[in-house]
Amino acid sequence: MSEQTNKSAEALAKASAGERVRVRAPAKLNLFLHVGDTRPDGYHALQSLVAFAEAGDVLEIAPAAELSLNVSGPFAAQIPRGSTNLVLKAARSLSELHADTPRGASIALEKNLPVAAGIGGGSADAAATLRALNLLWGLNRAEDELVDLARSLGSDVPACVLSRPCWMEGRGEHVSPANPLPSLDLVLVNPGVLLPTAGVFASLNARTGTSAMEPPGRIETLWDLVAYLEDSGNDLESPATHLQPDIDHVVEALHHEPGCVFAQMSGSGATCFGLFNDREYAEGGAGRIAQDHPHWWVKATRIAAPDIGAPRRV
Ligand code: C5P
Repeated sequence: MSEQTNKSAEALAKASAGERVRVRAPAKLNLFLHVGDTRPDGYHALQSLVAFAEAGDVLEIAPAAELSLNVSGPFAAQIPRGSTNLVLKAARSLSELHADTPRGASIALEKNLPVAAGIGGGSADAAATLRALNLLWGLNRAEDELVDLARSLGSDVPACVLSRPCWMEGRGEHVSPANPLPSLDLVLVNPGVLLPTAGVFASLNARTGTSAMEPPGRIETLWDLVAYLEDSGNDLESPATHLQPDIDHVVEALHHEPGCVFAQMSGSGATCFGLFNDREYAEGGAGRIAQDHPHWWVKATRIAAPDIGAPRRV
C-alpha cells in the first residue's frame, strides 16, 4: 500500500471513529439512606452516601436527524418507549438548552438492571444520556451544569451524573463528591418485585433525620466502610419490607452467605446489596442464592472505579 493510500485510510478511520459514543450507566447504591422532614414541595429531605457498582446498563449513541430510542437486554420489556422515557426526556432537556440548533441522536440502551428497583435504573440511564450527548454534540457543558439539568429529571439523577461516590442531601438535588471507595466485592439481589418509590415514601414510619451522619473520611478497606456504616441504616427498608416481605428474605439470604459482612436494601428497594470480604465468596454466594431462588435477579459485582461513567468515543 502506498504512503498516500495509507494516509487516506487513516483519515477515513479517524473520521468514522468518534462518530458514536458509548457510556455506562452503573447501578447506584445507597450505602445508607436517612429520611428527614417532608418538605413544602411534598418531597422528603434525605441524607445518603451513594456509591456505584460495575454492574449497569450500557448506552451507545450515534448522530441522527431525530431523537430515537431502541432498548435491548434482559429488562427491555419493562421500559416505557414513549416520551415519558427518562432517557428521551434527558436528551430533550439538553437539546433545549441549545434551542437554536435542534439536535438528534439515535440511542441504543442495553437494559441489564431491573427497573423500579432502588438502584438508579432510569435515573442512571438519564444521567448517562446527559454525559454522552454532552460529548457527542460537542457541548462542553461542565459537570455542574449537567447536575443542574438533572435536578428536573428526578431525585436520583444528579448523583447518577457524578457516577462516583457522593454525598447526597436535599431531596437528592445537592450532591458533592465523597472520598473514593476501594473496589469492594458486592452481591446485588432483587426479588423480582417492582417497588414504586412514591409508595415506599408514603408508607414511611420512623425517620432518622438528616443530621445523624457526616461525610466519610478516608475509607481504605471493607472494615473502614463497615465501621462507618455501623450507626446508619436505610429508613426506607422497613416500609418497603412492609409492602414486599420478600425483601426480608433477600437480606437474610445475603447475611447467611459466608463472607458477607453487611447487607441492606438500596434506595426505595427492592434491590439489596451484600458487601463481601472477598471475590470468591461473593461469586460463590451469588451462585448459591441464584440457585435457591431462580426467580430472583442476582449479580456479583464490585464498587466501580470513579471513571466508570465517563463517555467514550467508539
Ligand atoms: O424524584 P423522583 O421522581 O425519583 O421521586 C419519585 C417519588 O418519590 C416522588 O414523587 C416522591 O413521592 C418520592 N420522593 C420523596 N422524597 C424524595 C425523593 C422521592 O418523597 N427525596
